[in-house]
Amino acid sequence: MSQFQIKFMPENRVIEAEHGASLLSVAAKAGIMIKSGCGGKGTCGACKVEIISGDPIVNGTGNLTPEQLSKGIRLACKTSVQGDMTVEVPPESRLQEHQVLLGDAPKGIIQESEHDLLEKFGRQPLALKQRISLSKPTLTENSSDWARLSIELRRALKTGDKPIHIPLSVLKHLPESLRKANWDVSVTMTDTEAELTVTHIEQGNDVPPYGLAVDIGTTTVVVYLINLLTGEIVDQQGTYNKQAKYGDDVITRIVYAVESEQNLIEIRDAVVGTVNGLLDKILARQSLSSKDIASAMVAGNTTMTQLFLGVDPRYIRLEPYIPTMTTVPSFSAQEIGLHMLPEALVHCYPSVASYVGGDIVAGTLVTDLANGEDIILFIDIGTNGEIVLGNQDWLVSCACSAGPSFEGGGITFGMRAMPGAIERIFIDPETLDVSLKVINDQTPVGICGSGLVDCMAKLLGAGIIDRAGNFQLGHKSGSQRIRATADDKEFVLAWAHQAGGEKDVVITENDVKNVIRAKGAIYAGIRSLLNMVAVDIDMISRIVIAGGFGNYLNIHDAVQIGLLPDLEPERFEFIGNASVKGARLALLSQNAWREAEELGRKMTYVELSVGATYMDEYMAALFLPHTDMNLFPSFQ
Ligand code: FES
Repeated sequence: MSQFQIKFMPENRVIEAEHGASLLSVAAKAGIMIKSGCGGKGTCGACKVEIISGDPIVNGTGNLTPEQLSKGIRLACKTSVQGDMTVEVPPESRLQEHQVLLGDAPKGIIQESEHDLLEKFGRQPLALKQRISLSKPTLTENSSDWARLSIELRRALKTGDKPIHIPLSVLKHLPESLRKANWDVSVTMTDTEAELTVTHIEQGNDVPPYGLAVDIGTTTVVVYLINLLTGEIVDQQGTYNKQAKYGDDVITRIVYAVESEQNLIEIRDAVVGTVNGLLDKILARQSLSSKDIASAMVAGNTTMTQLFLGVDPRYIRLEPYIPTMTTVPSFSAQEIGLHMLPEALVHCYPSVASYVGGDIVAGTLVTDLANGEDIILFIDIGTNGEIVLGNQDWLVSCACSAGPSFEGGGITFGMRAMPGAIERIFIDPETLDVSLKVINDQTPVGICGSGLVDCMAKLLGAGIIDRAGNFQLGHKSGSQRIRATADDKEFVLAWAHQAGGEKDVVITENDVKNVIRAKGAIYAGIRSLLNMVAVDIDMISRIVIAGGFGNYLNIHDAVQIGLLPDLEPERFEFIGNASVKGARLALLSQNAWREAEELGRKMTYVELSVGATYMDEYMAALFLPHTDMNLFPSFQ
C-alpha cells in the first residue's frame, strides 16, 4: 500500500500514513493528541484542523461553516489521507497536559481524617518485603532451598499458620537466586487474607517495597508512588487518559470498544499505556526499577475498570445495565501489562453497579460516610455525576449522566481546566464590560467548568439571560457584546484581539442551555435520592464534593445557578481526588480494603431511568436556579 508523508504543524513533525487513514488516527500516531468529543462521528466539532496543503478525502464536514471550509478547516475524524499533506493543529483542538487533580484539597479537614482513617483501619499493606539471611546448606544440614527459605520467612514474619506460596515462575530461579546472593536475600511478597505469595527474590538490600495508587478517571489518570513501609506518598504524576481520542464519555468509548476485538484491545492499551507512561516517569525520577513496585490498587468507574482489564463492556450500556463484575479478582501485573514486578498483584476497587464504580466506593471510604449518624451527601461533579447519600445505617447511590459540559465538552469554547481557560468572570451589570481570570494568565482561548458556572451566574446576575437561559437581546446597556448570529444568540466573553485569534470567544444560548441541562441533571439526582429515602435537604450535615472540577468550583455561584442545594457554605467541603486517596488507603490497609468491598456490597444503587421521579425533578430543575424558588431562599 502506498505511504504518504503527513506533516503536522507547528511541530513540523512528519509521519507516514496509508491511503484512507483518518487524520485523527494519524495525528495520534504522531503523538499529537486531538480532542474528539464524539469519538469520531463528526458531530462534536472538537477535532478541527487546518489543511495547509494537500488534497484529502473529506467524508463529512459536520457543523463547519462555509467560511471555515473556505479557509481549509476540516474535521480530523472525517478527513482521510490520499496523498502528502501538511496539517496545522490549532491549540483549541489539542488535548494538553493540563491541570490534573492530583489529590490535594484546598481544605485540610479531609487530609487529617484520611490520616486518622489509616490509623483506624490499621496499617497492613497488600505487599511487603523481608530481608533474610540463611545459613548455607551442608552435608548434615541439607534441607531443601524452599524449606530453608520458607521456614526463615515464617519465623521473621511471625505468620502463624498462614500459608506461604511460591509460584512456579519464581521457584524455577530459586536455587540460583539464593546462591548468587550468597544466601542473603530480599524477598518480596503479596499479602492477602488467605496467603502470602513470594513474587520476587533478589540480592539482600534495604530498598523499601513500593506500591501504586492509581485513579483512572474518564478524563484524567493519576498515579501515586507509595512507600509501603512508611505509607508516605513519594511521588505523583497525572495526565489525561489517552482513551480520550475514542470519545469524551464512557458511552462513546463502550460503543467504540465493542465494534471489534481489535478496538477493545486498542482502547485497553490506551489506558494501560497511560498508566505505564506515568509510572515510567516516576521510576526514572526516583531512580527505581519496575521490580521495586510490589503492588497496585486501581480505582476507576465501572467502565474504566472493565476497559483497563480488557473485559467486554457492552452490557454496561444495554438495559438492564449489567456490569461483568462488581468485585474484581486480582491479576498479576504481567497479565495486565503494567511495568511492575511481573508477579505482583494489581487490585481493582469494587463497583456498585454499571454507573457507580470503584472511584465512588473509594470516595465513600475516604469521606468516612458510612461510620457516623450524620447524613452525608457525596457528589462527584463530572461527566457521570455520581451521588452517594447516607450514614452508618443506610447508603444509596445513583449516577445522573450530567454530560461533559463541566469538563468542556459540548460547549462552543468549552475546554478543560488548562492554561488559557477562563476560570473566573466579572461582568459589570450596567455596561456589561467583562474582566476575566485566565489560568496561567494566558490569553483566553476557551472556558473551563468552573468558569462556566461562574459565567452562568454572572450572565443571570447582569440580566443577560433570563431564568430559562434565554438571551435578552434588548439589554438596557445596549452593549455590542450581546448579539444574534445566523444560528444562535451569544455573548462575547473576549474579543478576538484579546484572545489572540481571529475569533471572539463567546458563550452561546445553546451553551447556556447545555449547562442548564447538566446542572439540572445533578440537582435532580440529588433530589431524587433525597425523595427516595424521605430525607429533607436540611437534614444533610455535610456535602462533600469530589472530582477534578470540584476543586475550582465557587460554591456561591454553583448554588445561584441551582447546581448545588441552597445550604450554608460551611456545610460544603471539597475532597479533591477522592478516588486516588481511597486507592492509597486500601493499598496500605487490608482492613480498609475489606471495608471497601463491604461498602460496595452495602450501597443500594438507584436506577434513575426507572419511574417518573427523576424526570419530573429534572424538568423542574431546567431553570435558574429552579422552578420552585422556595428551594433557593437565598436567591429569592
Ligand atoms: S467531530 Fe471529530 S471527533 Fe467529534
